Amino acid sequence: MSLRGVFQPPGDKSISHRTALFSLLAKGRARVENFSPCADVRSSLDAALALGAEADLNGDSLVITGSYGRLRPAAHIDCGNSGTTLRLLMGILAGGEGDYLLDGDASLRKRPMERVAAPLRRMGAKAQCEHGACPVRVRGTKLHGIDFELPVASAQLKSAVLLAGIQADGQTRVRERVASRDHTERLLRIMRAFISKTGAAWLVQRSSLTLPDLFRVPGDASSAAFFLCAAAIIPDSDVTAEGVLLNPTRSGHLDTLIKMGARVEIERQGDEPEPWGRVRVRFSPGLTGRRIRAEEIPSLVDEAPILALVATQAHGTTVFEQVGELRLKESDRLAAIASQLTAMGANVVAEEETLAIEGPSPLKAPSRLDAFGDHRIAMTLRLAGLLADEWPVIVGEDSIAISYPGFQETLAELRT
Ligand code: S3P
Repeated sequence: MSLRGVFQPPGDKSISHRTALFSLLAKGRARVENFSPCADVRSSLDAALALGAEADLNGDSLVITGSYGRLRPAAHIDCGNSGTTLRLLMGILAGGEGDYLLDGDASLRKRPMERVAAPLRRMGAKAQCEHGACPVRVRGTKLHGIDFELPVASAQLKSAVLLAGIQADGQTRVRERVASRDHTERLLRIMRAFISKTGAAWLVQRSSLTLPDLFRVPGDASSAAFFLCAAAIIPDSDVTAEGVLLNPTRSGHLDTLIKMGARVEIERQGDEPEPWGRVRVRFSPGLTGRRIRAEEIPSLVDEAPILALVATQAHGTTVFEQVGELRLKESDRLAAIASQLTAMGANVVAEEETLAIEGPSPLKAPSRLDAFGDHRIAMTLRLAGLLADEWPVIVGEDSIAISYPGFQETLAELRT
């Protein structure tokens, strides 16, 4: 069995979230094309609607009207499984005038929110978490700018502080030691915010945002990564993703594939609203393991599960350094990767902050695997099963709709 053909991933999840959520602070109306159909982004759109934005969604085309100055005064928002929805809303609502309760499902209730509440409180915000997690209560108030160094490389944390910063008196400065995805900064610029960069610091000032007339979301880099990475290790595969996001803060998995010796061709075809193009990956025998350094992790943080699968087929050891953040995702991804790939015959060790994989190992699928309710683990295991030429039961496979509802259809189209 192999993967062959051309596919188009859905609109990027991270960017789609932001187009829906930023409308709460914006004037004007935008047509957003290729808006992600995934469940996580639906959480953001529903939240924006509950808070006062107006939207009309037709397939993947969204017309959204900003609700600047018209936020509902109180709401209970269910963010579902989506950390991006909850954390970005904390920053957006902190500078408003209402009283809000933000909550989510059992997985989201286990994830750290105090890391966002703490800097917002330094800005004057009233944000309270329950035992460091959600439900989170945010009461809008007057904010002031701060100078903030990110304690962890987290784009969600950075975004929350920047979104509060554009509502605050004075200047807010956010420094990152390692660059995380920069979609918030790019979109704030497009929406005419006062934002600039000096060295590794982002500076923002009070701004009123204006929605662009037309915004086309590039294809999701992380969704595309599943088929592209799998193509490198499944014999006879040759897969091309069209219209895919090529933002360098999101393409660390492609750099890693290339450094491991994979046959990857990247053709950049445009730069608006972010770099995008075509990526082709062909089956690549003789891959070699490598050490993936801490500073590379943010640019591939969501691709670690599928890269771990690639590493099971590479010669030598692959080490992911300082990937403790993976324990705080939709599941404990380090534990999930280690237990499930080990059950398939791979040689994987997850220590506190490190993931090490020794390859190559032939994989075989037990009749039942567990995705721990985590979409990225589920897709990784489905492709691992394909490599083993088997179709195991994957408990929690329906979670795939959280980020990639069309995954199974695309898989069926590419399988030969
Ligand atoms: C995201 C940031 C990352 C990533 C998540 C989406 C975003 O999370 O893992 O899937 O859209 O800002 P962290 O900010 O927790 O690293």
